[in-house]
Amino acid sequence: MDYDSGKYKPVGEVLHKKVGRFLLRGWIKRKRDMKEKVFVLLRDGSGSIQCVIEDGKVPEGQMSAARKALVESTVIVGGEAHEDARAPEGVELKVDYVEVVSFSEEFPIQRDLSEAFLLDVRHLWLRSSQMTNALRLNATLFSAFRDFMANNKYLEVQGPEFVSGAVEGGSTLFQIPYFGKKVFLSQSNQFYLETFLPGVERVYSVMPSFRAEKSRTRRHLTEFWHAEAEASWMQLPELMDFEEKMIKALAQGLLDKHEKELKAFGRDPKVLEKVVETRFERIPYEEVLGIAQKKFKYLKWGSDLGEKEEREITKDYEVPIIVYHYPSKLKPFYHRPNPKDKGETVLCTDVLAPEGYGEIIGGGERCWRLDEILTRMAEEKIDPKPYQWYLDVRRYSAHPHSGFGMGLSRVLTWMCKLPHIRDAIAYPRTMNRYYP
Ligand code: 4AD
Ligand code: MG
Repeated sequence: MDYDSGKYKPVGEVLHKKVGRFLLRGWIKRKRDMKEKVFVLLRDGSGSIQCVIEDGKVPEGQMSAARKALVESTVIVGGEAHEDARAPEGVELKVDYVEVVSFSEEFPIQRDLSEAFLLDVRHLWLRSSQMTNALRLNATLFSAFRDFMANNKYLEVQGPEFVSGAVEGGSTLFQIPYFGKKVFLSQSNQFYLETFLPGVERVYSVMPSFRAEKSRTRRHLTEFWHAEAEASWMQLPELMDFEEKMIKALAQGLLDKHEKELKAFGRDPKVLEKVVETRFERIPYEEVLGIAQKKFKYLKWGSDLGEKEEREITKDYEVPIIVYHYPSKLKPFYHRPNPKDKGETVLCTDVLAPEGYGEIIGGGERCWRLDEILTRMAEEKIDPKPYQWYLDVRRYSAHPHSGFGMGLSRVLTWMCKLPHIRDAIAYPRTMNRYYP
């Protein structure tokens, strides 16, 4: 067979047309050997179709090759498609030509479907419908984010991944050797984004961020895809409105293309429709603390809200909430102190996803005056020396600005109702996981 002949049709086209003669190529997803025939569920990039190969309907050599081929063998099949209500997709291909391009070895994913094993063989599990659904939804999420930002006149830029200083505190920095010196892996592109503002005013980036998080929660990765933005002149209320509009656009993006995949994950599309239609409540830190205190009595003003507290706060909400004015001691030095309470709180905001999922966005107004940020650094005992380039943003062209960072896999985990963030990314990296 000439693999490049252009004669081959994708399975998706067959399912669409339902009848006719087709030549398909793909992989054996499932197989059932009967006395006089073999049922093969053939998968390609566009879907799966049931194929029936019967004794006498194909040459003997082809029949024995089909019988010998194990799951995940690569095959070419030709035949007549017809509607059949018993077939998984309602269409069956009656095969009159089979060619095994490659006999697969026994596929390791058979009976053991434990979470740990599937992570060990993630490179093979990627072809499961669970993963391919997640990959498609993920791709749409990325493009919906980029479309939304471009429509709002934000310019996409990139920053470095090797950096010389912390953004989100030293405790989660990965340090690596760099030609006899030490550098860090970026925790956030925020500081670099700020440097673009005097030139272009509104910027965003989609880049990996790294955190040496010792947290073993269902929402922490050590490497995650970070969607971040900065905007000149923007203040907190406008930032909250922007974030809400953005999340609605992302939900709508998934709804437009992926009702079927959402349902396969057990996510009722109506829930995301509600997200698109309902205004998100804005709630100060103090008030959400009150919700968490009902269960966790030890919490007091100034306590940090982690995974379990946020789960409690958000479990009865159906749409995200926007929490603002956290105590300044909980947040990194770059957040702008609230002038109304002498800096007890900062002009920041976290967006918490509902149903227990918790934080998906962190952001706020930045300290934009040189004296203000130097004071905050001194209070936090941060040496300004490695941050001179960042302080230059305050020395020249200083102006009010705001920004945010959003973990794309966290958004996907919530929107698809997935149990764990590792289900939302092809190759999850956690404390104990860096293979494959
Ligand atoms: O709240 P974070 O740490 O804020 C920043 O990094 C800011 N500098 C962002 C900015 O304003 N440009 O992280 C922002 C978001 C979180 O809300 C969360 O969604 C995600 O990044 N995130 C993680 N996602 C997966 N695994 C982790 N370990 C994450 N840490 C943060
Ligand atoms: Mg945060």
